[in-house]
Amino acid sequence: MTDTTTADRATASSSGAPRTGPVGIGVVGAGVISDQYLGNLTQFPDLRVLFIADIDEERAAAQAEKWGVPGSGSVAELLAHDDVEIVVNLTIPAAHVEVALAAVAAGKHVWGEKPYALDRESGQRLLAAAQEAGVRVAVAPDTFLGAGLQTALRVVRQGDIGAPLTGLALFQVPGPESWHPSPEFLFAHGAGPMFDVGPYYLTTLVQVFGPVAKVTATSSKARETRVIGSGPKAGTEFPVEVPTHVSALLQFESGASAQAVFSFDSKLARAGFVEIAGTEGTAVFPDPNMFDGDTLVHTGGDEPTVVPASGSTFTRGTGVAELAQAIRGGRRERVPGELAFHVLDVMVSLAESAERDESVVVASSLEPTPELPEDWDPSVATLS
Ligand SMILES: NC(=O)c1ccc[n+]([C@@H]2O[C@H](COP(=O)([O-])OP(=O)(O)OC[C@H]3O[C@@H](n4cnc5c(N)ncnc54)[C@H](O)[C@@H]3O)[C@@H](O)[C@H]2O)c1
Repeated sequence: MTDTTTADRATASSSGAPRTGPVGIGVVGAGVISDQYLGNLTQFPDLRVLFIADIDEERAAAQAEKWGVPGSGSVAELLAHDDVEIVVNLTIPAAHVEVALAAVAAGKHVWGEKPYALDRESGQRLLAAAQEAGVRVAVAPDTFLGAGLQTALRVVRQGDIGAPLTGLALFQVPGPESWHPSPEFLFAHGAGPMFDVGPYYLTTLVQVFGPVAKVTATSSKARETRVIGSGPKAGTEFPVEVPTHVSALLQFESGASAQAVFSFDSKLARAGFVEIAGTEGTAVFPDPNMFDGDTLVHTGGDEPTVVPASGSTFTRGTGVAELAQAIRGGRRERVPGELAFHVLDVMVSLAESAERDESVVVASSLEPTPELPEDWDPSVATLS
């Protein structure tokens, strides 16, 4: 009998032949965000969504029926499905690493939702396990593959604002307990405004300036409890376990610097702001939590120049299509686990800085991500 290694299972079909054609997808987690993913994944021709799993198997079955996915059931059944090559992990943050490690152990590649992990140790364990198994771990956010941020990044890279010097990022809202029907996890260890939305802003800043070298932060918590505002649990009080306002200073390896605010404590909602000031101008980026939106370039005149977004405007799931093409093409994916790990390392370092009242050196680094071709379109079939 031939001994099949985990890496063989990732790259070959059960017959032993190299896999070709569309890539099989299994989705774990049939909650709020799964609709947006499934709406896209089921229409990308390079992907075949084969199975949906959830600890709540009825929820998985309902989503499978709604989106025309052939199978549903438990995570174990999904992992035993031979044609599932990428596990799309849409579970809550506390389950991200556990589910991803199980997928890696089954020889599957993983696309995960943010945050990548709750701490550096489990994040490193996952990267090491994936490397050992010869599979990929890629992690949201993939918003920077969208037309809006790709255009903003092109504006900076082609020199429209001169040399980029400083960044400003702002996310402040009253808090997601008003609209999310199960918001408890957003106020638990591993979430809060920084771990929940920080990845969008920090990933964008890292795309502009490269890796972060050192951070300093302060943080605070407005209330010890919150009340669910929508859905069947509306009116239920739950504990707030993490800071709900973080003010962050970032020093990049390049010498550039940036400041950011992540807050669930402001009745005045102002979110989606990333501004990059350069030697010749300032670029106002579109919302880093979105895949579309114009870039504004201010160079000192009365009115900014509006640069319309150009590229793919598909939303969540875009990175899964890019990962599938990278797997078949034998090249590195554009949203690698190393990027998510660096952003996690920055967030953990910010939390440590606020706790200890001192600056913290960020040990991890990363390679720059190549731009996407401007005409890249995940609705065009490339794998036959
Ligand atoms: N809701 C949003 O707008 C949004 C946007 C972007 C990203 N995200 C991210 O997506 C992820 C999921 O968010 P959501 O809002 O869909 O949460 P949710 O609570 O609505 O759904 C999570 C689902 O995962 C299932 N689950 C939890 N642990 C599991 C396990 N160990 N095995 C199998 N299933 C498990 C739950 O039963 C639930 O159905 C989070 O990481 C969140 O940060 C959410």
